[in-house]
Amino acid sequence: MGALDFDFRDPELHVDPLAYQRRFAEAEPVHRSSQGLWVLTRYADVLAMLRDERVSTDRRSLYRNKLEPGRPYLTHVEHNLFYRSADDHRRLRAPLSRAFTPRALASFEAEVAARARSLAAGLDEGGFDLVADFAKPLPLGAIATLLGVPDSELDNLAAWSMALIAALEPAASREVFVAADDAAAGMKALLADLLDLRRAEPGHDLLSVVASSGLPLTDDELLHNAIFLLSAGHDTTTAVLTGAAALLIDEREQRGLLAESPQAVDELVRFISPALMISRVASAPIEIGDNVIETGAPILLGLAAANRDPEAFPDPDRLDLARSQTGHLGFGFGPHVCLGAPLARMQIRLGLVALFDRFPELTAAAPPQREPSAVLTSYRSYPLAARG
Ligand code: HEM
Repeated sequence: MGALDFDFRDPELHVDPLAYQRRFAEAEPVHRSSQGLWVLTRYADVLAMLRDERVSTDRRSLYRNKLEPGRPYLTHVEHNLFYRSADDHRRLRAPLSRAFTPRALASFEAEVAARARSLAAGLDEGGFDLVADFAKPLPLGAIATLLGVPDSELDNLAAWSMALIAALEPAASREVFVAADDAAAGMKALLADLLDLRRAEPGHDLLSVVASSGLPLTDDELLHNAIFLLSAGHDTTTAVLTGAAALLIDEREQRGLLAESPQAVDELVRFISPALMISRVASAPIEIGDNVIETGAPILLGLAAANRDPEAFPDPDRLDLARSQTGHLGFGFGPHVCLGAPLARMQIRLGLVALFDRFPELTAAAPPQREPSAVLTSYRSYPLAARG
């Protein structure tokens, strides 16, 4: 291989993003590509960026340059907490965080457990697809319940959220943005109808709670952030459930730690790191080693490589559900740290326990099939059957 040059169009990046990131971590952990992208792949540097107030999350201008005003996907980006910074971000995040308090989640736990058990009970021991039949419907159903969306809309939600996720890919095509427009518009119409109903008759769902909170949030902000929860919380959780099942299929002893040890799920998230890479923009010059990241420069933070950095995690390629090192970056860090992490942890624990209770012995017909992607691990299928 010649000189390193990070390139979003490189097929190798999409096929094996962790290996691609690690080449940079080993040879050039602070890298500036020929296209002016800064790529950071060591744990300490990634963490330093996530702590640095000069590193902004406001990437709306990137989308304004790509999409015409008024397009539903651009409107979605414009109203979204994910693309805001500082006070503006805090204002949008505060109302949503009401749905993720320990109290709110505790009342939700029995429901997630029941959903996990019922999905596991429905799996055919002769053969099933873990992604389609279990790892996808579990988080999708949980977010639908959180938002108060009826189960009859789950297929629509699945299709819309995959269209929104595809638009996160930096090399996304025109067609991908057209599908994302349709998804944002479809989902907004559904949630807007629900919001009207909840205003008339409030329930315990997120739309009712936020709408009646008196917090300063417009309807557009509420609806677009609710849509964002769906795309942020669905496929990432599916990826950990699927990847974890593949890792634990022959690890009966480690499986026992899932129910007992709170850090077991975090070790799975460190190891799998489905949010492979996140992006930022320098809002001022930032020195890093001998380099200076210039104002306005895009910065990519390689969470997957950082979570396998031997300086931070001894023997990083060993999955050890009893590992004591904490501080992985699989859920991000700082003001934008994953809002849904407590819900994700709950679903992964309850989901895997339900799956392995139902099938202590599983056999895989093929390894999990991953969608090519530079930024997210997303699984297409994982064919399994009961062993014996
Ligand atoms: C294992 C599953 C999950 C993983 C690995 C994951 C990962 C992440 C990461 C890395 C970020 C930070 C992005 C950044 O700083 O640029 C993030 C943010 C976020 N996540 Fe998750 N996530 C998961 C599940 C969920 C779930 C279940 C929900 C909600 C239902 C959720 C909602 C969010 C939201 C709203 C944000 C944006 C927070 C902000 O900008 O303030 N995530 N997630």
